Amino acid sequence: MTFEPLLELRGITRVFPDGNRALDGVDLEIPSGECLLIAGSNGSGKTVLMRILAALMEPSGGTALFRGRDAGEAGKSLRREVGIVFQDADSQFVGETAEEDIAFGPANLGLDKEETALRVASALERTGLTPKRNFPPRRLSGGEKRRLAVAGVLAMGSTTLIMDEPFANLDWPGVLQVLHIIRDLKKEGATLIILTHELEKVLALADRLVILHRGRVRDDGKPGEVLDRLRPEYGVRDPRRPYRTVEDCSWLG
Ligand SMILES: Nc1ncnc2c1ncn2[C@@H]1O[C@H](COP(=O)(O)OP(=O)(O)O)[C@@H](O)[C@H]1O
Ligand SMILES: [Mg+2]
Repeated sequence: MTFEPLLELRGITRVFPDGNRALDGVDLEIPSGECLLIAGSNGSGKTVLMRILAALMEPSGGTALFRGRDAGEAGKSLRREVGIVFQDADSQFVGETAEEDIAFGPANLGLDKEETALRVASALERTGLTPKRNFPPRRLSGGEKRRLAVAGVLAMGSTTLIMDEPFANLDWPGVLQVLHIIRDLKKEGATLIILTHELEKVLALADRLVILHRGRVRDDGKPGEVLDRLRPEYGVRDPRRPYRTVEDCSWLG
């Protein structure tokens, strides 16, 4: 049997009309069940890469495949299986309440009321949002908003999650809430693709680390080995530096 990755990018480039080469020859194979961390500084191309993986944006060159099929053509099945949690959770909400918001996806899939209600209840439970089910999404805390975005994706039946900067603008409890969900989904065998510049928060859960810099994959491998090879120009900080005293806690080097 030949090995077929869940998602695959072959020689992907993305050039914007202003001439900006956001992605410049990206090759990436993502197998099912992997927890993949894609790290890179601001502007390295993470969000553009996410949009191409999720077939929300067409590449200028190269091929994006989902289960061996052109990602653009795989449209519907890709959309069902691959859920996206955008950096700006607010842009993702459509319901008046958390519950209504989660129900939107399954209802859109054409599922009946009973099945939709079951999925909503399960998604609320898994993300710990049952007590907040009647809250308007905008009144939730940052961590709860991000959990709500995950709940919406889970209710769609997605088994792959792409999360763009899942820790952005969250305080420590908010980060922990998101990490607990990532850990649980990993245990359940979900495929997780996490794009972030804050790799210290999720590094311990990653099976693999890819470094993106100026639109190119600069390194790809086991997290520890990739960090050993890290170059300063990538703009990614190795978080393994031990902190013992207050004086140690410096990002200045
Ligand atoms: N619509 C666009 N038009 C022009 N340039 C863009 C557009 N979207 C993104 N870019 C550029 O592409 C590069 C990568 O952006 P992005 O993927 O958002 O980076 P990251 O998510 O890693 O911070 C940046 O230089 C950014 O300015
Ligand atoms: Mg981004």
